Amino acid sequence: MSTENSSKPTNQFDKKSQAWSARFSEPVSELVKRYTASVEFDQRLAKYDIEGSLAHAKMLTEIGILSDQDLQDITRGLQTIITEINEGRFDWSLDLEDVHLNVEKRLVELIGDAGKRLHTGRSRNDQVATDIRLWLRNQIDIIQNYLKQLQLALAELALEHADTIMPGFTHLQVAQPVTFGHHLLAYAEMFKRDTERLNDCRRRVNRLPLGAAALAGTSFPIDRVIVAKELGFDSLCLNSLDAVSDRDFSIEFCSAASLIMMHLSRFSEELIIWMSPRFGFIDLADRFCTGSSIMPQKKNPDVPELARGKTGRVVGHLVALLMLMKAQPLAYNKDNQEDKEGLFDAADTVRDTLQIFVDMVAGIRVNAQAMRHAAAEGFATATDLADYLVKQGVPFRDAHETVASVVKRCVDEQCDIADLSLEVLQSYHSAIKEDVFSVLTLEGSVAARNHIGGTAPERVSEAATALIKALKKDLNK
Ligand code: ARG
Repeated sequence: MSTENSSKPTNQFDKKSQAWSARFSEPVSELVKRYTASVEFDQRLAKYDIEGSLAHAKMLTEIGILSDQDLQDITRGLQTIITEINEGRFDWSLDLEDVHLNVEKRLVELIGDAGKRLHTGRSRNDQVATDIRLWLRNQIDIIQNYLKQLQLALAELALEHADTIMPGFTHLQVAQPVTFGHHLLAYAEMFKRDTERLNDCRRRVNRLPLGAAALAGTSFPIDRVIVAKELGFDSLCLNSLDAVSDRDFSIEFCSAASLIMMHLSRFSEELIIWMSPRFGFIDLADRFCTGSSIMPQKKNPDVPELARGKTGRVVGHLVALLMLMKAQPLAYNKDNQEDKEGLFDAADTVRDTLQIFVDMVAGIRVNAQAMRHAAAEGFATATDLADYLVKQGVPFRDAHETVASVVKRCVDEQCDIADLSLEVLQSYHSAIKEDVFSVLTLEGSVAARNHIGGTAPERVSEAATALIKALKKDLNK
């Protein structure tokens, strides 16, 4: 493939090498050729391009446009091409612009006239839209699988740590005690919503554009239902203009991918904080970290940091796609060729990140003592004392005020609420009795939040167990 940086047209113009050449009297310059070609990145659609061509050829045969012999030749030729591509023997040519023309040219070389008949009743416009949808459908299925595996890894760790107490934070300040299992299941919920979103997105990806041809449909008596069935599409795109110009499905995917990355990025942020020696809540396995070339003591959480960093590029692809589409008149415009690289990169990034996280989560080592120690600081049970007073008939706002005064004293005396004597506590409110100390413990605090969605160990075990069961069934494990 030539990457020569020249803007001069070459003198020799091989009319046969371009599909539309009879109309043209001069070739494009080398620079324009490179500028307009997509083969360097769209060749990864080849498998789906060929699948689509086979389905199209079968349909053309059923309606009598191709002969059985043509179909046999096309099938054989396309199979040879797939083998050549898989074995790295296929000669990709920049002169042939994109994956579609490269495959078609080789097919004609291999089988002659039948290859030239294949493009009857279709255009690259509906062809490329079909290829992307087939490719993306497959990517969604792979990503869904990793999303489920990640939920499973989270749920299994959550079950193990259903009663491991850590501080829950608001404003990154210790707020109330929670269980580590409960915290992990919060992420499982996010990834569960992500699978729902991708399921929904997949329904709109999985519609067949082929048959729209260039934009207006075709005068051949095609049967689009046969093609849809052959390719496993759920339904057809119902307007030919929309079919060739619609890229909503890619935008929806990038939007779902951005949300997944955003969730992974929030989780990354926490892993980084938890792993910092100041917190020391967890340790990540060495295979996800690197050292420093100068500071021998360092073990850096590279994978979560990179995941946090890569989130921006996926969100960038979403914005780029929205901008790509926003000013395009109907129907197909060459702008659309710009839809692929960002989409490919979004899928690659989210897929790889999820795959790495599955393994990383399973290998998290938990320092329960450090978590507990941190929860014991910061008056995490102050709300429990207020709730206790309410249960004795004190209005909540008054209880809140009373406890605020208690906390102020503890700050001055540098002690915890539970360290104060009963007499001192009673000097703040006479409703306080001996049994108050049971609600001031961390265990008492989390156990009391025993409702659906609460942090009580019992509830966390229940939720984790139910999730593990559902996921294992889904993943056939
Ligand atoms: N490579 C093109 C793309 O990715 C294929 C469709 C070309 N169609 C056209 N009318 N030039 O969009």
